[in-house]
Amino acid sequence: MISQIVCFPKPIAGFSPESTVNTWNFPSHYLVPCSSGHGFRLIRGRRILTCCDSSSQSWNVPVLSSYEVVERLKLAREGEQQFMAMYSSVVGGITTDPAAMVLPLDDHMVHRGHGVFDTAMIINGNLYELDQHLDRIIRSASMAKIPLPFDRETIRRILIKTVSVSGCRDGSLRYWLSAGPGDFLLSPSQCPKPSLYAIVIEKNLTIYTTGVKVVTSSISIKPPEFATMKSVNYLPNALSQMEAEAKGAYAGIWVDNNGFIAEGPNMNVAFVVNGGTELVMPRFDNILSGCTAKRTLTLAEQLVSKGMLKSVKVMDVTVEDGKKADEMMLLGSGVLIRPVIQWDEECIGDGKEGPIAKALLDLLLEDMSSGPPSVRVLVPY
Ligand SMILES: Cc1ncc(COP(=O)(O)O)c(C=O)c1O
Repeated sequence: MISQIVCFPKPIAGFSPESTVNTWNFPSHYLVPCSSGHGFRLIRGRRILTCCDSSSQSWNVPVLSSYEVVERLKLAREGEQQFMAMYSSVVGGITTDPAAMVLPLDDHMVHRGHGVFDTAMIINGNLYELDQHLDRIIRSASMAKIPLPFDRETIRRILIKTVSVSGCRDGSLRYWLSAGPGDFLLSPSQCPKPSLYAIVIEKNLTIYTTGVKVVTSSISIKPPEFATMKSVNYLPNALSQMEAEAKGAYAGIWVDNNGFIAEGPNMNVAFVVNGGTELVMPRFDNILSGCTAKRTLTLAEQLVSKGMLKSVKVMDVTVEDGKKADEMMLLGSGVLIRPVIQWDEECIGDGKEGPIAKALLDLLLEDMSSGPPSVRVLVPY
């Protein structure tokens, strides 16, 4: 064990004895989290040797051994039990120690945003729509001119193995393909190898069915060549989300330059129109092709067979038509299918959750728990 909790004989003013940690390579030294919560102090006996409190006026930047770095990373990661395993092609393996789940700063994904990513939900020991998400990250990588570090089958095997090693049965798998480490220039010409990273995050699936409010996003929509690729450049998405939260809304909705409804910052949208008989979804030409939205289009055919819907269409939808819809819903791996009951100042339909959004969510949940092998990959633990 690298670190252990110790107690001072007499507490030092301002320090909580329970929060001190004995350093491994200097047994008489103690690493104490700063009361500000922004850094650490290295203490011998009652003397502060170094302080890296970012809020302090006078501080020393310590020069750390690799052991100390690991020790501090462990401290910083304490309590982060949800990060179950990480794969990195840079080290060529999987770790289950959150302190070791790190990226090289010279990776062009970090300093140039030259990387793409995707996800897959882990549901009861199965990866939901892994192949669909894998196809999408490979398409994104091709658009971002990132060569694959391995062939598709090897990437797939690495991802499944990372989940298997993690032991996680409910959560999410996130993975990245990047131009790789090399230097700090723009071109990746000096990056010898593209990289693959993956992380498994444990989290029980929570299903929300209450309707939410959305607002029209004032943040500029990404141009089609960037919106259709799932790159790591999510700054507009993050700003759109922050704007929505500041307005008390669940998400911001982008409208394209022709006045058609596009998507949310990490979800697609769909509407029920014509007196509750037609499910319509905006075309995917200028937005991200959502795996949940695409799967929902297929599942919705069951509602047509049952007579709950007359048709399912992918078409341009104007803001005016969207706001007049009988139902509106958000669709994505994170949100699943969530009804929208208000858009800006307008109520959608009767301002209550509608029957089609509920029926589609039920179909999606059933598909996630017992759908065909084309959408469920069993993880061998
Ligand atoms: C911009 C954007 N649109 C739509 C989606 C929904 O895609 P999926 O259903 O594959 O999660 C996402 C997912 O993160 C997204 O980031």
